[in-house]
Amino acid sequence: MSKAELPSGLSPKLSPLTDKFGRTVNYLRLSVTDRCDFRCIYCMSEDMTFLPRQQLLTLEEMTFLSQAFVELGVNKIRLTGGEPLVRKNIQTLISNLGELDGLDDLLLTTNGSQLEQMSSQLADAGVSRINISIDSLCPERFEAITRTGKLERVLKGIEAAQAAGIKRIKLNSVIVRGKNDDEIIPLVEFALEKGLDISFIEEMPMGDVGCRDRQGTMVTSEEIRDVIETAYSLVPSTETSAGPSRYYRITSEKAADSNIRIGFISPNSHNFCDTCNRVRVTSEGRLLLCLGNEHSVDLKAVIRRYPGDMEKLKNTIVEAMNIKPERHYFYDDDKPQVVRLMNMTGG
Ligand code: GTP
Ligand code: 5AD
Ligand code: SF4
Repeated sequence: MSKAELPSGLSPKLSPLTDKFGRTVNYLRLSVTDRCDFRCIYCMSEDMTFLPRQQLLTLEEMTFLSQAFVELGVNKIRLTGGEPLVRKNIQTLISNLGELDGLDDLLLTTNGSQLEQMSSQLADAGVSRINISIDSLCPERFEAITRTGKLERVLKGIEAAQAAGIKRIKLNSVIVRGKNDDEIIPLVEFALEKGLDISFIEEMPMGDVGCRDRQGTMVTSEEIRDVIETAYSLVPSTETSAGPSRYYRITSEKAADSNIRIGFISPNSHNFCDTCNRVRVTSEGRLLLCLGNEHSVDLKAVIRRYPGDMEKLKNTIVEAMNIKPERHYFYDDDKPQVVRLMNMTGG
């Protein structure tokens, strides 16, 4: 966008992290590990080989890198994985990031398995919002979808996060046809009972997870909304977390006291790329300019070649904005085109 085209009232001084489509990046999703204690069927294959530890950024390198982004105008960092809470000494990184001047929101997306023991530390270190995945409320099914997960631990984790006073907790559910598509209403009712927001996510074709027909079992947001509307009235909400979620409020009388939001993340059926405000860094230190494309820059190489050189790192990040793609392309002629698995990418 040229200066002349800027909407009136907006400062003509563009942030250094503005791409060639006029989008400003103020949000970093940092994957701290590709490892996870679960093996969700839509995310990983059953047999996984994880990265050798020396290939990962150290926690110090992650702090340095985060500082570079914050100095460039990023005010929101979400830690992702894999499962971020299985990274050794993650509390140290969280405390260090919590002290970065200019960072308004330190957030976490987790599978909830470690929350029972870690929630208080997270709250103390300044984590303000947590997203927790939960795809089924039936223990056997939960185990079938996650391959190794125990529902009971996640339920205890959710309680612990609430008790620790984490301000906003959102549940995430991926609905897979034939696996949990009859649990849409129970999941909404669970969210209502706990007073938590919930987002339903369309499955994205990230990497090869073994012999699954992802397109055949993907349930669209529209289908999910139709199911919810058999029991509850929904009205679109104007609130946004500046993310891909489109939110609704429940207006039915039976949920009159609730204040929860129901979100729909619809990468397949609804494109939200024109308002994209985010980039990702993988646990190996690769800057990914878009979830649904392979465009990337190796920041670890820069950090290790020029140790401590903040200006060099910042310049590399600013230059990378030139290759941020206009939109995601998950399929190319019906063939998935992103080869990275979700745990490598960090959601
Ligand atoms: P906020 O945007 O921070 O409010 O949270 P979120 O709901 O986007 O984050 P979360 O980590 O819970 O991710 C939920 C789902 O949204 C995951 O499946 C992510 O992969 C997906 N997602 C997040 N950002 C993007 C994006 O830019 N593009 C696409 N296609 N999917 C995204
Ligand atoms: N498509 C959509 N969502 C996915 N997640 C993991 N893999 C996929 C996929 N292929 C979700 C998890 C978690 C969030 C970070 O991403 O369920 O809630
Ligand atoms: Fe682990 Fe999350 Fe992937 Fe499940 S979706 S295997 S919890 S990283």
